[in-house]
Amino acid sequence: MELIEKLNWRYASKAMNGKKVAQFKIDTIIEAASLAPTSSGLQPFEIFVITNPEIKEKIRPIAWNQSVITDCSHLLVFAAWDTYTADRINKMFDLTNSIRGTKNEGWENYRQMLLNSYPQKDAEENFNHAAKQAYIAFSQSIAAAAFEGVDSTPLEGFDADALDEILNLRGKGLRSCVMLPLGYRDAEKDWLVNLTKVRKSKEDLVTLIE
Ligand SMILES: Cc1cc2nc3c(=O)[nH]c(=O)nc-3n(C[C@H](O)[C@H](O)[C@H](O)COP(=O)(O)O)c2cc1C
Repeated sequence: MELIEKLNWRYASKAMNGKKVAQFKIDTIIEAASLAPTSSGLQPFEIFVITNPEIKEKIRPIAWNQSVITDCSHLLVFAAWDTYTADRINKMFDLTNSIRGTKNEGWENYRQMLLNSYPQKDAEENFNHAAKQAYIAFSQSIAAAAFEGVDSTPLEGFDADALDEILNLRGKGLRSCVMLPLGYRDAEKDWLVNLTKVRKSKEDLVTLIE
């Protein structure tokens, strides 16, 4: 299947059948998230992979009781840094230096520039910036899941503060942004499965500037 064909196959599943997704497919989906581009390469988020049924049961009521939370195979939670700190920025720059085995003046100047700006900014502004990066990874996961023939539901309909509490995210300097249940569609119970995909016209989406 070509990419567009797979993306057309994908839809936001409303019902899943509880069937397990093979670990290698989950690994691929996570790898796709990890390979997403992020601003300054900081990857300011973490991904929680939940298979524990009790935790899923706890999350479902704070997520509009959406059945995919408990009927999925793996529940991904994308959680962004609550702010940018000098420590977090340095850690990623140091990692780059150690992996590449070099220290580059331009790169070190860039580090200083970030250290002189992000940590001084308002935490809410920093969280919003970090969350945008998490969404890019989230989107790549969705596409990777479709590529692997795995269904998913992009899911923002939940009480983020309650989820942060269930997973103790604030204690880790994180805040939840979005969830992605992964599994297999239950076509009999899913009202959306056979409905035609609706997208606005290319004319409304794209402006050509030649
Ligand atoms: C950020 C985000 C949050 C969403 N939250 C929910 C949700 O909480 N529950 C749900 O059933 N669908 C959710 N959706 C799915 C959208 O409603 C769906 O992607 C959109 O209607 C287009 O349909 P399609 O994905 O089937 O093509 C969300 C999608 C995105 C991108």
